[in-house]
Amino acid sequence: MGVGRNFSSTIFLLFVVLLLIPCTEQLQTSHAHTLLRIKKLLNSPSVLSTWNTSTDFCNAEPSASLTVACYEDNITQLHIIGEKGTSSLPENFSIDSFFTTLVRLPSLKVLSLVSLGLWGSLPSKISRLFSLEILNISSNFLSGAIPQEVSVLRSLQTLILDNNMFNGSVPKWMGELSLLAVLSLPNNSFSGSLPNSLRGLNTLRVLSLSMNQFSGEVPDLSGLTNLQVLDLEDNRFGPEFPSLASKVVTLVLRKNKFSSAIPEELSSYYQLKWIDISFNRFVGPFPKSLLTLPSITYLNIAGNRFTGMLFENMSCNAELDYVDFSSNLLTGKLPTCLLSDSENRVVRYSKNCLASGEQNQHPYFFCRNEALAVGILPRKQKKPTRMAKGILALSIVGGITLGVSLIGLLIVLVRRAQFGKRTMKIPRTRLIQENVSTGYSSKLLSDARYISQTMRLGGLGLPPYRTFSLEELERATSNFNTSSFLGEGSHGQMYRGELNDGSLVAIRCLKLKRRHSTQNFRHHIELISKLRHRHLVSALGHCFECYLDDSSVSRMFLVFEYVQNGTLRGHISEGLTEQKLTWTQRIAAAVGVAKGIQFLHTGIVPGVYSNNLKITDVLLDNNLAAKISSYNLPLLAENVGKLGTGVHSSALKEHNARGRTIDADKVDVYDFGVILLEMIVGKSILSKDEVDIIKDQLQWGITADDVSLISIVDPVICKACSEESMKTMMGICLRALSEEPAQRPSIEDVLWNLQFAAQVQDEWRGDSQCQSSKESPVSSSQRPSSQLTSW
Ligand SMILES: *[C@@H]1O[C@H](CO)[C@@H](O)[C@H](O)[C@H]1NC(C)=O
Ligand SMILES: *[C@@H]1O[C@H](CO)[C@@H](O)[C@H](O)[C@H]1NC(C)=O
Ligand SMILES: *[C@@H]1O[C@H](CO)[C@@H](O)[C@H](O)[C@H]1NC(C)=O
Ligand SMILES: *[C@@H]1O[C@H](CO)[C@@H](O)[C@H](O)[C@H]1NC(C)=O
Ligand SMILES: *[C@@H]1O[C@H](CO)[C@@H](O)[C@H](O)[C@H]1NC(C)=O
Ligand SMILES: *[C@@H]1O[C@H](CO)[C@@H](O)[C@H](O)[C@H]1NC(C)=O
Ligand SMILES: *[C@@H]1O[C@H](CO)[C@@H](O)[C@H](O)[C@H]1NC(C)=O
Repeated sequence: MGVGRNFSSTIFLLFVVLLLIPCTEQLQTSHAHTLLRIKKLLNSPSVLSTWNTSTDFCNAEPSASLTVACYEDNITQLHIIGEKGTSSLPENFSIDSFFTTLVRLPSLKVLSLVSLGLWGSLPSKISRLFSLEILNISSNFLSGAIPQEVSVLRSLQTLILDNNMFNGSVPKWMGELSLLAVLSLPNNSFSGSLPNSLRGLNTLRVLSLSMNQFSGEVPDLSGLTNLQVLDLEDNRFGPEFPSLASKVVTLVLRKNKFSSAIPEELSSYYQLKWIDISFNRFVGPFPKSLLTLPSITYLNIAGNRFTGMLFENMSCNAELDYVDFSSNLLTGKLPTCLLSDSENRVVRYSKNCLASGEQNQHPYFFCRNEALAVGILPRKQKKPTRMAKGILALSIVGGITLGVSLIGLLIVLVRRAQFGKRTMKIPRTRLIQENVSTGYSSKLLSDARYISQTMRLGGLGLPPYRTFSLEELERATSNFNTSSFLGEGSHGQMYRGELNDGSLVAIRCLKLKRRHSTQNFRHHIELISKLRHRHLVSALGHCFECYLDDSSVSRMFLVFEYVQNGTLRGHISEGLTEQKLTWTQRIAAAVGVAKGIQFLHTGIVPGVYSNNLKITDVLLDNNLAAKISSYNLPLLAENVGKLGTGVHSSALKEHNARGRTIDADKVDVYDFGVILLEMIVGKSILSKDEVDIIKDQLQWGITADDVSLISIVDPVICKACSEESMKTMMGICLRALSEEPAQRPSIEDVLWNLQFAAQVQDEWRGDSQCQSSKESPVSSSQRPSSQLTSW
């Protein structure tokens, strides 16, 4: 009996002990077991030497080479980075068993297995890692084709297979990975031509295919409006120059088989920083405007057959720190702007026919003869027999120029047509497209240490968008006390508030006319929450006040950041002279407003147009950065039912008559022109008639001599402005104020001109103050692409 009692109490004790072991421990154990098995299968590399049966994987200190991240009990991230140059794993390694083990971690979102000596072909089991968002398996010995099963990974945003031995082509289904932002395949043995389906990847930011054996024409990438890096180095692409969208930052076509001319539109890609088209067979005149692109720092055209004459008096961007013209057919003299500052800048130009003595040059007639030969070579041209060489040269040059501009025009037209189609096709459910710089889903962001850096890069220093409670807003404004009242506009009353944490906000209060449930506002709120940009007064959150009877919305509050420094008009045409902005500051403010408009038009989908922009709605922050405060929130427009009046009425009528789609962007360009006009003349412009009168004076002033110019231009700025920047601003202002919308420039064009004005003003200031500001030399061995990849 004693034994029996003892026995049953032992059982009881065991039972209690079993109960006390939390379930989480058991889960952890199975994952821990999987990780230890991974260590064994990888032949215990030194990076995993710390892993043993007692390791607390989820809470171990992450390092650059080893990180495990968990969400609750699941492992969501695994980074194992072996030593550089690790040799391949021994014969008994099986990639298949390795993946069989790996897929026991199905919650993995981020997986990096770099330099671990993995070999074999990627097993189809990879499809079981269906949550994968980022996969980096670079620097291994993986071979074979990319398996079809990767197409199942619909969350995949980043695919990095660099430095392996993969072969086969880029499969068609790659175009179905609709979230893909980075596709990086350098240094493999891929071949074949690229599938046209890549045109559909409109989230793609980085396409890096260097050091493979790809061939054929590059598909039309002009629809990839987010593409920032295109690196095709060392393949056999060609012969036509790829069509791209204008946001490209890094363009590397080095060592391919391109043999066309450079399209003229390249000169309008204002974000281009790095151009390397060396060692192809490019022909035609060297586009000199590449030297003055506003962002350019690296330009390499070496080893082509560019022709044309350079002049000493040509201008170039001061930031250019690497220029290589070598081995082309250029004549004339090296521009002096390249020769100055020679310590900071690498300039190569040997093996041309330039009249500059220093680097090894061919005699002039060599280039002339070669240029003739190049002119004869292009395809489909009949071999000339009897024509005199001089006439031939002339007609070839003329033909090429005309051809280039026709191609340019054609591309522009085709792109317009495609753009129209594309906007129609965007499905309703994906109303909002994320900003370019934050390509990761919020799911991932919420738990990933890995990405936090990414966010900071693209961040604005604003807290995340959120819902506010009514009590919180009442506290912030002392119950909407009159002392907090800022004013009343067509879009409701504005209050100033101070939140608990001491930060200031502006609260817009909207009384709603029709009864809707909060659900009806979901799309609007989603849109508003995305309207965040350095040059917009950004929304921080919202709050609904509801009727008690049917809980439909009675009032809505939108909470915005509070911008401290008053309106742009207050710093231009009103207020004290000491507060007035200098010319340089005015250009900077104009660039800011233009960037804000550009974001409203293109940074979100659908774009926000017809914003009824007024100089009094542009606010300045403590750093005098301009922020647009009143934009066309669909919610506001619907609620108010009518739009404001004033200077803009004619533009608005035009907009109403023509409907939403045609030239909607040009309405904003006109309104921006009015703002520019006020910034130039420095006095308040209050009616459309005034706009017309001052515009005429400006038109006259721009063609007349300098003295008459000064009489219209704000005397405050005349003291310190370069004439060229002033004329550029006047020119773009006049074009923006064209009566015919089609004649107004696009916002990109406006921005380009303003940035140009800023640049010449800067140079002028530099000259006039006799400061040759020496910048630190920039290492030219590092492409900007490496930074972009990690955004
Ligand atoms: C593979 O072989 C090595 C010896 O060459 C041995 O140390 C290792 O444990 C083996 N690995 C597996 C997974 O069998
Ligand atoms: C596991 O490794 C830690 C150091 O990483 C060490 O302190 C501990 O003794 C090891 N435990 C076992 C069971 O090997
Ligand atoms: C953990 O993973 C399992 C299996 O994939 C899943 O069912 C579970 O919801 C996940 N738990 C959490 C907290 O994500
Ligand atoms: C892949 O991971 C390695 C190791 O962390 C890193 O050095 C490399 O930059 C990553 N590749 C890309 C394209 O980001
Ligand atoms: C290309 O990849 C191989 C491994 O497949 C590596 O040994 C080599 O260093 C890589 N080349 C470059 C230029 O990165
Ligand atoms: C790819 O490489 C494998 C060997 O790893 C070979 O059997 C196959 O034929 C190759 N495929 C192509 C398209 O070159
Ligand atoms: C630059 O110099 C050339 C002759 O050397 C001249 O024809 C041209 O007009 C000059 N351009 C400018 C902008 O001064």
